[in-house]
Amino acid sequence: MKPQPLTSRATWSNLSAHASQIRSEHLRTLFESDHGRAKTFSLKACDLFFDYSKNRINSQTLDLLLELAEDVGLSQRRDAMFAGEKINQTENRAVLHIALRAPESAEILVDGENVIPDVHRVLRKMEKFCDQIKSGTWKGYTGKPIRNIVNIGIGGSDLGPVMAYEALRHYTDRERVFRFVSNVDGTDFVEATRDLDPAETLFIVASKTFTTQETMTNALSARSWLMAVAQDEAAVAKHFVAVSTNAEKVAEFGINTENMFEFWDWVGGRYSMTSAIGLSNLLALGKENFRGMLAGFHLMDEHFRTAPLRENLPVLHGLLNVWYANFFGASTIAVLPYDQYLKRFPAYLQQLTMESNGKCVTLGGAQVDYQTGGIYWGEPGTNGQHSFYQLIHQGTHVIPCDFIAFAKSLNELSDHHDKLTANVFAQTEALAFGKTEQEVSAEGTRSDLVPHRVFPGNRPSNTILCEQLTPQVLGSLIALYEHSVFVQGAIYDINPFDQWGVELGKVLANRILPELVSENLPTLQHDSSTNQLIRMYRACRGRSV
Ligand code: F6P
Repeated sequence: MKPQPLTSRATWSNLSAHASQIRSEHLRTLFESDHGRAKTFSLKACDLFFDYSKNRINSQTLDLLLELAEDVGLSQRRDAMFAGEKINQTENRAVLHIALRAPESAEILVDGENVIPDVHRVLRKMEKFCDQIKSGTWKGYTGKPIRNIVNIGIGGSDLGPVMAYEALRHYTDRERVFRFVSNVDGTDFVEATRDLDPAETLFIVASKTFTTQETMTNALSARSWLMAVAQDEAAVAKHFVAVSTNAEKVAEFGINTENMFEFWDWVGGRYSMTSAIGLSNLLALGKENFRGMLAGFHLMDEHFRTAPLRENLPVLHGLLNVWYANFFGASTIAVLPYDQYLKRFPAYLQQLTMESNGKCVTLGGAQVDYQTGGIYWGEPGTNGQHSFYQLIHQGTHVIPCDFIAFAKSLNELSDHHDKLTANVFAQTEALAFGKTEQEVSAEGTRSDLVPHRVFPGNRPSNTILCEQLTPQVLGSLIALYEHSVFVQGAIYDINPFDQWGVELGKVLANRILPELVSENLPTLQHDSSTNQLIRMYRACRGRSV
């Protein structure tokens, strides 16, 4: 039976009607009229304290959002994912990143086979490899131990590992150098390797498909870089390992499949950092910390799977995103971590959220008539305060913000951390309550300046406050967003697990490439703009036009 279209559901219209009432209410009044508001609208799960009281909601809003969630069958969809059903319908695949961090005693079946033993087999293989690198028993072609690890991958085969490496840098092995190469722009590879000794460098070629143009191009350049000094094909085995689902292509590249760490088609690229794609993280963090991160993911998985919807952090987080996107016209969400180590977290979230929910047709193939996945962006605090926060405070857009803060710094330095924390709390307060015309005038402000100095307030935010940034907390934080994305996808009735939208550009690039490099200018059959750009490029490169 076809599901009822979202916008014709009574639960949706109830929210619309409710939104038109609550839109006129100010957070100031909501807080004044309920002194227990902060308590009512906050929750602790998996060591993450989630204060969502500075949102433009009341308890009826929550009731209605939860009714919508029930109505679209959120719990059933979630249970289907955890049960290994092929919920990625357009690719006919199960979606089981949650299996990657499940304990060895768990049982999750795909096509009648329990996938957990395989997950742990690969994890142990990764750990053994890590021991060999750390102990120096794995040697480069000259007999030197490995000191530099370069991960070559893009998208999900890069963003998760590089984000987690930066986020947990405090815990990493400082004896070794870790680099990440993703862009097909040669500058990325050249700058990442310019000060490295090939004899001490290991490349991890990370690609689910092992066909991605950028990754394969960088991997070939890495091989040439090594060969330029090693001059012996046998060196490849000592300096290249692969992470992939495609053993055939790995072998074709010349990497011994014994040095391949596998994962499976039921792990989506952007959900793969807890698979072997995290090999560089394991090498950097060591076994205990890596397992700690997996444990954090698993804690949040279990919370999402078992907590009642009303007390379920990813559910509340996802529903709040829907609330603003679809009932307040908010098209972007700012993620603002007040921790320098999380500087790549917004970039990582961009792929997770936007590649997942940037869709315009439902699972059944119908065009949606509502806004889907939001645009995620952000920068670490306090830097953002001195650039784009102006627009969040006084601009015309509604931009819900997620502030992420930690009570204890990993680098206590005089009073830096108290100042950092004062800033994050101040931002949430200023956004919510603003400053009225009366308050501005009462300060003796010149009357013509008053309108400029008014802060309207009523700008929504969540605050996620944790004790300290640990591998476990990071795992739980990432899993929170993974599952929030799932919740939003379920409400929108879209498939968050495919990414057909990236294909066309890849096909066209493959068509254009020979037109750029061929000796003679071929007949160009693009539009006049693209033809002109191709000609100009060829001319600049000294090729015939
Ligand atoms: O082009 C998008 C994409 O397919 C992502 O979904 C994926 O994470 C990335 O490319 C890299 O793919 P692969 O791991 O197969 O190289």
